[in-house]
Amino acid sequence: MTQRAQSGPGRRTLLGAAAVLGTAGLASAGTAAGPAHAAERGRGSYRDLPVPTVVGHRGASGYRPEHTLGSYQLALDMGAHIIEQDLVPTKDGHLVCRHENDITGTTDVAGHPEFASRRTTKKVDGVSLTGWFTEDFTLAELKTLRATERIPGNRQENTVYDGRWEVPTFEEVLRWADREGRRRGAPVWLYVETKHPSYFRSLGLGLEEPLARLLRRHGRHRAGSPLLLQSFEPGSMRRLAKLVATPRVVLLSGPTERPWDFVESGDPRTVADLVTPAGLKWIASFAQGIGPTLDLVIPKDAAGRLTEPTTLVTDAHARGLVLHPYTMRNENTFLPADFRRGTDPNAYGDVFGAFRAYFETGIDGIFSDNPDTALLAAADFGKR
Ligand code: G3P
Ligand code: CA
Repeated sequence: MTQRAQSGPGRRTLLGAAAVLGTAGLASAGTAAGPAHAAERGRGSYRDLPVPTVVGHRGASGYRPEHTLGSYQLALDMGAHIIEQDLVPTKDGHLVCRHENDITGTTDVAGHPEFASRRTTKKVDGVSLTGWFTEDFTLAELKTLRATERIPGNRQENTVYDGRWEVPTFEEVLRWADREGRRRGAPVWLYVETKHPSYFRSLGLGLEEPLARLLRRHGRHRAGSPLLLQSFEPGSMRRLAKLVATPRVVLLSGPTERPWDFVESGDPRTVADLVTPAGLKWIASFAQGIGPTLDLVIPKDAAGRLTEPTTLVTDAHARGLVLHPYTMRNENTFLPADFRRGTDPNAYGDVFGAFRAYFETGIDGIFSDNPDTALLAAADFGKR
């Protein structure tokens, strides 16, 4: 594995990236002056992370129920460079780690008769959903639930851990990261996503202000803090840019989709517009990176096989943006068709081949449910 400053032939160097970055990255560093915190003492910025950077997606969610302390701990123990949290609020405004506010599929809430009447149907970002939602539970109520495996049909082994862990608050994760950082003598990097920020703001549960308060309290509010912020809504990153200097990443979904804050504000731009040079230039005015789908980096054909890479890596790097695409998973069913092995959708395919194909595009990192595999693939790539 290489450090960014030593990245391979034809790839952007650390110094090059920093020079290009200038505006959004370095200017914001000066806005959050204050005493150095234990979380960041002696460490550089996200630009010093190993490349390719391995992000433990929802922890080590290939092996443990996602967004639990068990999943985060395993990702850390495996050596993941950064560990991801998705955040949603409770009714009383606490930030908790869940991929979505509908907790039907990742907790045992359906087995709690005392909450049966909370099951409801609501529209979130234009999509009608029926289930139980974090914003209808106080933190104390949510803490009576236990996390369960999201995709037991694919990951039956993970179901042995159902019921073992609570839904963690983000504050608990920060405390865990501080503790582990002290124990290891190196900060634990976190990659924190605001989920459905416009929707929650409309309920009076804006995410960014309480998140910024927590980041300040734990010394992760500076440009050099060991944390990256991310959102599918550019507006959330722009709002956070005014509150903290922590680096920001704009997530990008399918080309025809529009960020939900664009839908609400009447901004006609789609993801296809945001990945043009003009769109990337706009993103670089308030963010330091993008998190595109893997398909935006290498599209697939009708049979699900990889085709030719797009120019996204080159175009983003030209604007000083790092790229951390999502999401690699080891099971055949989640891999490009050319890397599947055998006919069992849940068996592992040629994951190293798939990682290599993506790394060869020059991406800076990758989200993976299987951080151990991703780290080995990254090490192989660095030895070329
Ligand atoms: O945040 C990167 C990746 O996790 C985005 O997709 O839906 O898994 O949060 P999602
Ligand atoms: Ca995420």
